[in-house]
Amino acid sequence: MSLNLSADDVLSTTRAVRKRLDLTRPVPRRLIEECVDLATQAPTGRNRQRWHFLVVTDEARRRAVADVYRAAVQLAHGTPLTERDLRRMTAHPGSWERIADGSRHLYEHIHRVPALVIPAVEGRTDRADVTEQAGTWGSILPAVWSFMLAARARGLGTAWTTAQAPLERELASVLGVPHDRIMLAALIPLAFTLGTDFRPAARIDRDQVLHWDAW
Ligand SMILES: Cc1cc2nc3c(=O)[nH]c(=O)nc-3n(C[C@H](O)[C@H](O)[C@H](O)COP(=O)(O)O)c2cc1C
Repeated sequence: MSLNLSADDVLSTTRAVRKRLDLTRPVPRRLIEECVDLATQAPTGRNRQRWHFLVVTDEARRRAVADVYRAAVQLAHGTPLTERDLRRMTAHPGSWERIADGSRHLYEHIHRVPALVIPAVEGRTDRADVTEQAGTWGSILPAVWSFMLAARARGLGTAWTTAQAPLERELASVLGVPHDRIMLAALIPLAFTLGTDFRPAARIDRDQVLHWDAW
């Protein structure tokens, strides 16, 4: 299954999909395997490839993962936005309401999403310095984004979530992950999208983020 999108189309239209996930249609294992094969073409520091993708499709396990997700969201409820968040939101009025609405929808339905993908990396950075942080996160996040792009190219929708992170240990325990040496990087709901038309997003202007020769 391929939407035959150009590379630029895939890069500019891979949105966080929450309300347009088809909760009724299972995702064939083969498609997920293809996405993982493409994801693992991403770079890693010293080519160590310490990445893992845990795919949860079993109904009882999805429910258990969803319970942890919801408990973590509850824990974080009321976390104040930073000044920087607020500044950025003013650049895109209405964006917070849209995100909150989508996130609420995901919160309510996450147990029904046909596949929950949890990318993980060997090694923990809880007490690491910047070098180790950069090396470890930099060796999993490119692969995760590649996974999401590959999914989009196949008519599948994803959303990066970290809401579960405050209960990462509990999530690891639910899935039998050895938490002392494996870090769960994200939780990615995965489903066919309802419709395949997605648009490029409004972003902060290039001149505010592009620096040339010096800051
Ligand atoms: C690091 C990170 C964490 C995120 N965490 C969540 C989350 O916990 N729940 C959620 O619904 N969306 C989450 N998102 C999705 C963002 O809200 C979304 O990507 C952003 O609003 C931009 O929208 P777009 O991806 O459609 O352009 C997260 C995205 C990133 C990159």
